[in-house]
Amino acid sequence: MIICRSIDAMRSQVRAWRREGLRIGFVPTMGFLHDGHLSLVDAAARRADRVVLSIFVNPTQFGPNEDFEAYPRDAARDEALCRARGVQALFYPERAAMYAADHSTWVVEEALTTGLCGRSRPGHFRGVTTVVTKLFNIVQPDVAVFGRKDAQQALVIERMVRDLDIPVEVVVAPICREADGLALSSRNVYLSPDERRRALCLSQGLRAAEARVAAGERRAAVLCADLAAAIQAAGGRVDYVECVSRRTLATLSTLDEPALLAVAAFFGRTRLIDNAYLG
Ligand code: PAF
Repeated sequence: MIICRSIDAMRSQVRAWRREGLRIGFVPTMGFLHDGHLSLVDAAARRADRVVLSIFVNPTQFGPNEDFEAYPRDAARDEALCRARGVQALFYPERAAMYAADHSTWVVEEALTTGLCGRSRPGHFRGVTTVVTKLFNIVQPDVAVFGRKDAQQALVIERMVRDLDIPVEVVVAPICREADGLALSSRNVYLSPDERRRALCLSQGLRAAEARVAAGERRAAVLCADLAAAIQAAGGRVDYVECVSRRTLATLSTLDEPALLAVAAFFGRTRLIDNAYLG
């Protein structure tokens, strides 16, 4: 596995592969890798000859009171996991390489980012779309894989790629869960054993919503109220519970089109997100 710490090194590796006619798959991450990330690597490997994984804790997608400094980091472990999973290149840029001190250019998506995490985390998606555009420009992948746990992020990236004619195929891979249902997230490491147990209400509440929809429930308000109540009963603090269109992320009152039940909630100081496709 090649480790590229500079943009030039990454670009020259990609150029060499392109000269050989190889197809490049890309998995952008912020590190502290878990099985969810590794499933994205597998998805990229199925669609490409070479897989590049980037690790960059992107400061511009964190709000001033968020966990940028505390965000878990473990370079040696990440490197070993990538090596074992067959990643061919690890892109590990420094902050100064990605953002000049006078950086002043942003990529902004203006429709899909207004609700859900965009409302709760002002500026978050501007940081995501900007860094992902930069990473796409550096790695120039044929295919890039994102996880569906960040369903809004995946939709925003797909829209950005379409709107800006970025020549990359975006693949959205399924959510990976622990055996007890907790969606894998690098932030799970913040949870105390008690918070982790309480956080199971997210996946359990989403499964209950799926069951209600299978039994004929179509009222979005009922589904959201039940999930919010389950979170409160478990001692969590709801950030949002919303039933939105899977296409536009507009709020739905009735499940008359493919829907996304999206949730964000705090357990202690840790904010977790999860979602389910309904209908
Ligand atoms: O999903 C993430 O880990 C990040 O938002 C991403 C896509 C790597 C951009 O920093």
